[in-house]
Amino acid sequence: MATAPRSRARDGGAYLCASCEATSLQWAGRCPACGEWNTLGPAPLRRGNAKSGKGAEGPPALALVDVSTDGTHPLPTGVSELDRVMGGGVVAGSVTLLFGPPGIGKSTLLFQVLSSLAATGLDVMLASAEESLAQVRGRASRIGLVPRNLLAIEGPDVEAIEAAVERHRPALVVVDSLQSISDPELGQPAGSLAQVRACVERLTRMAKSTGAPLLLVGHVTKDGDLAGPRAVEHLVDTVLSFDGDRHHALRVLTSVKHRFGPAGEVGIFEMRDDGLRAVPDPGPLLLGDRMAGVPGSVVVPVLQGRRPLLVEVQALLGPGAGGGTGPPRPQTLGIDAARANLLLAVLACRTAVEIPASAQMFAAAVGGITVTEPAADLAVALAMASVITDVPLPPDVVVFGELGLAGEVRTVPGADRRLAEAHRAGFTRALVPASMASAPAVAPAGLTVHGVRTLAEALSLLKSEAGARGAPGTMPVWPTAPAAASL
Ligand code: TYD
Ligand code: MG
Repeated sequence: MATAPRSRARDGGAYLCASCEATSLQWAGRCPACGEWNTLGPAPLRRGNAKSGKGAEGPPALALVDVSTDGTHPLPTGVSELDRVMGGGVVAGSVTLLFGPPGIGKSTLLFQVLSSLAATGLDVMLASAEESLAQVRGRASRIGLVPRNLLAIEGPDVEAIEAAVERHRPALVVVDSLQSISDPELGQPAGSLAQVRACVERLTRMAKSTGAPLLLVGHVTKDGDLAGPRAVEHLVDTVLSFDGDRHHALRVLTSVKHRFGPAGEVGIFEMRDDGLRAVPDPGPLLLGDRMAGVPGSVVVPVLQGRRPLLVEVQALLGPGAGGGTGPPRPQTLGIDAARANLLLAVLACRTAVEIPASAQMFAAAVGGITVTEPAADLAVALAMASVITDVPLPPDVVVFGELGLAGEVRTVPGADRRLAEAHRAGFTRALVPASMASAPAVAPAGLTVHGVRTLAEALSLLKSEAGARGAPGTMPVWPTAPAAASL
């Protein structure tokens, strides 16, 4: 178990806190260690312990190799995708912030953690400041298990939460949510920055002193109000983001910060009527309804954190409003609209594909996934080219690569992971940046890798392929690109 802050950093500072005896090099109205106001005063010049007054030595530096790592071993929660993201589970005394938009499933996820741990016989506690216990109980019965050693306390008072934790000493505490708890002494409304900070500081001290891992829920609104949860990121050990499209079942859990293991790990869940289900293989969920061989559909292996996901990118050409000068900006879902516009311009200027003057281009990432990676550029551009020319891509091909304004296909990270995932899902060919295709042993056996230098070259390669297959469609031939090298 970690030690309380009280015992730390007593020596050498210029100001001493009358309450917790922490020292600080700078004067502040409020002690940065314990949060008490007007307690900092000049510290006597000394080396050693102020209490004893003997000028004793401070704590000696330790050989790092001798420092014990006991207590940093994670406790598995039993929710497999969460354990994967947290490097095995929750660490004693650690504080984790789970943030995401309202309604995405944060309360559901943490309830499942509580119930899964309680089912192993451990006492766990939910502090519900947002929902009444009757509401929580309602959700609980829908999900199924309500073990007897799952304790719950209702209400916003952070002091009451501390007292309940002190009393019951649970093995894990969930506080839902950060924005709805408050310290009554502070005289500020719940959710204000001062309250959120003060409550996190208090609860962090509680976690450190009791050793109970603490999971905190924080809401983030869609219009980017990150102020609340983001303002306390530095105070906590782990920050997890929980995201997805509310209208789709897929939920993505990502570790944004993790003090006990690598950040960037991704867990995938499906929201069902009976709660969240871990999805170790999201392939069927993402590509299950795909109509391969339809013009405008391209599959790209994107990386969510370190984890590859196969995402279908689709394009559609609809009737335009007319009267404008040039093609209207593409409308997008799950793809950055400005990026799609740029890719359409690259397609228009660097290949022979002619963009219909007034038709409206639509582009979407399927499955509620938001694709932000430049690695999806080539797929988006090819989806648009495919729908304009009405020529489908072969169904067994995946595509990745960043596109530059000159139409060049640029290298992206993680080729090996992307190719391995494509191979695992049964794809047999990949169009990749030429610079990567020559790298040794990136492709698994059974997956043929074609390197392309430019978008035009990719189109030309697919054109010869479509010609050979006698592809259906009203315009069965890809337009010849001016700069296309024959492969
Ligand atoms: P919730 O966990 O309350 O979200 P948050 O705490 O992030 O605000 O879940 C919200 C949505 O999830 C709710 O609109 C209904 C849906 N849901 C299900 O589809 N199945 C379930 O079993 C549960 C509990 C919720
Ligand atoms: Mg909730």
